[in-house]
Amino acid sequence: MAEIIRVDNLRKVYRLGRVEVPALRGVNVTVQEGEFLSIVGPSGCGKSTLLYTIGGLTKPSSGKVILDGDDLGQMNEAQRTEVRRKKIGFIFQRFNLLPTLSAYGNIALAAHIAGMKNGALGPELDSIAKLLGLEHRLQHHPGELSGGEQQRVAIARAVITRPKILLADEPTGNLDTENSDLVLNLLKDLNQKMGQTIMMITHNPEVAIYSDRIVNMRDGHVLES
Ligand SMILES: Nc1ncnc2c1ncn2[C@@H]1O[C@H](COP(=O)(O)OP(=O)(O)O)[C@@H](O)[C@H]1O
Ligand SMILES: [Mg+2]
Repeated sequence: MAEIIRVDNLRKVYRLGRVEVPALRGVNVTVQEGEFLSIVGPSGCGKSTLLYTIGGLTKPSSGKVILDGDDLGQMNEAQRTEVRRKKIGFIFQRFNLLPTLSAYGNIALAAHIAGMKNGALGPELDSIAKLLGLEHRLQHHPGELSGGEQQRVAIARAVITRPKILLADEPTGNLDTENSDLVLNLLKDLNQKMGQTIMMITHNPEVAIYSDRIVNMRDGHVLES
C-alpha cells in the first residue's frame, strides 16, 4: 500500500498577543492509502489543528506535511488550494450546509467548484446518494432534514469528486447515538466499498472503534501506536 499522508515533526504554536499556545509539539504520523484511521484524544490536545494542517488550512510553525507525494510547505497558497480542492474532502461536526440550497444543490455546487463536468455529476451523485441512503432526500433543504441526514449530505458533498483523502473532524459530535452509529457505519462502507482513505479525529473512544487503526494524542503529541 502507498503512503498517502506523511507528517514529519510537525509543530504549531498559536500566538495570542504575547502568549504562545503550543498546539502541536512535534507530531509524526503516516497514513496508508485505503486506511481508516482515527486520532483520539481529549479536547484541546491539538486534534483539529493537526487535521487542518494536514488539509492545508492551517500553516505549521515547522515540520512537514506530505500529501500523496507533494510537500505542502514547498507550495504557494494557490498550489495548496489546488491540492486541497483536488485531493481532500472535509467533514465537520457542524454540517456547514448552505441553507438556501437543496441537498442536491449543496452536493452539485461542491462538484461544480471542484471542476467536475455536468455530465459526470448525475451518475456519480446517484451512486453516492444510494450508498448514503439519500435518494429520497435530495430535493429537501437542510432545515427539512434531521441531523443525521444533514451529515450524510455533507459526506456526499465531501466525496462527490472522489478525493483521495477524507478528513473528518468529530463528524458525530452533534448526533444522537442512533445517527452517530449510522454515519460511522457509512464512513466504514465508504472505506470498504470505495477504498476511501479516511482520517477521523474524535475525543470519543467509542467512535474510534469503527476505524481500522487508532492513534492516541495528548498535549500536542501523537503517542506511538
Ligand atoms: N486559532 C487559535 N488561536 C489560538 N489558540 C488556538 C487556536 N486554535 C486552537 N488553539 C489552541 O490550541 C490547542 C489545541 O486546540 P485544537 O487543535 O482545537 O484541539 P482539539 O481539536 O483536540 O480540541 C488548544 O489549547 C486551543 O485552545
Ligand atoms: Mg477539535
